[in-house]
Amino acid sequence: MLGKSGLAVSAIGLGCMGMSHGYGPASDKKEAIAVIHRAIELGVTFFDTAEIYDDNESLVGEALASYHGKMVIATKCGIKNINGKQVVDGRPEEIRKSAEKSLKRLRVDTIDLYYLHRVDPNVPIEAVAETMKELMQQGKIRHWGLSEAGVATIRRAHAVCPLTAIQSEYSMMWRQPEEELLPALEELGIGFVPFSPLGKGFLTGAIQKDASFDSSDFRRIVPRFTQENIAANQGLVNLVKDVAAVKNATPAQIALAWVLAQKPWIAPIPGTRKLVRLEGNLGAADIELTPEELRDLNDALAKIEISGDRYPAEYAKRAGN
Ligand SMILES: NC(=O)c1ccc[n+]([C@@H]2O[C@H](COP(=O)([O-])OP(=O)(O)OC[C@H]3O[C@@H](n4cnc5c(N)ncnc54)[C@H](OP(=O)(O)O)[C@@H]3O)[C@@H](O)[C@H]2O)c1
Repeated sequence: MLGKSGLAVSAIGLGCMGMSHGYGPASDKKEAIAVIHRAIELGVTFFDTAEIYDDNESLVGEALASYHGKMVIATKCGIKNINGKQVVDGRPEEIRKSAEKSLKRLRVDTIDLYYLHRVDPNVPIEAVAETMKELMQQGKIRHWGLSEAGVATIRRAHAVCPLTAIQSEYSMMWRQPEEELLPALEELGIGFVPFSPLGKGFLTGAIQKDASFDSSDFRRIVPRFTQENIAANQGLVNLVKDVAAVKNATPAQIALAWVLAQKPWIAPIPGTRKLVRLEGNLGAADIELTPEELRDLNDALAKIEISGDRYPAEYAKRAGN
């Protein structure tokens, strides 16, 4: 259950972005749809996409066309692609236009959960919240949320139109949300949807220091994924692998089980384009870390310093506003 909103989702959702955007060339459409359909067979009811993820909304819309009303589709507005460059734009008239286009691409009458992808510092958040309220009254969206927003912004937004979920990065590699965000969400009764819960693949152990990324792979410009930082962060991967061996699990499952163990109102959305990985990752919902295991893991994590920022400077500025 995402906070006190009444929106129920599967314990683990599916991040669909990588099928079309951010991680190299897009997946073959049939394969991507097969992954989405297998996720449904395995109990997933929560699918994440965004306007900015190239053709991803259309793909998700096609894959879920015969499941209307049974799935929760989350999408996002507020980042535009202008001449190949991402531009944050949270103006009410743009949100309204984006919602119309997303409804068409997703082939639905109502968007279940509509996020502002990044807070636009030039638009008061109250104006965004009023716009979302209006879209709800018109039946165009059911719930709304913010992504990578600061706590003060969340409070202001929630006072105008209650938020259902915040989507921000959270994993064993990026624990900043524990400082202010999670306590505030608990207090306000807002759900949390961690993105990149596998550390963009790093926590699975599949990324070695000789990794090379395609020119369209976002990790190519992420400081954490320089060869130097990949090597420097291997201690974290080793820790995850050790726990995985004890629990007879995969490192990806441990990464997800750790996120799930934090709060009952957290629903991570790991991404994968591969059937075999999907099946494994979803098995994380059955892995329970005991309070002692969690404490030991957290003690070990506290001793590990992560090398490399999660975003290049230009992207970092867009988070936490
Ligand atoms: N709100 C935002 O600003 C924002 C930002 C980023 C992402 N998101 C959302 O969050 C979702 C998930 O985040 P993410 O995709 O960035 O990161 P993630 O879920 O942490 O990691 C995805 C990466 O891990 C790989 N992977 C997945 N399972 C694996 C396994 N078992 N073994 C080895 N590698 C594995 C995937 O490769 P394969 O596909 O090849 O398996 C992919 O490269 C996205 O799909 C998107 O919907 C939102």
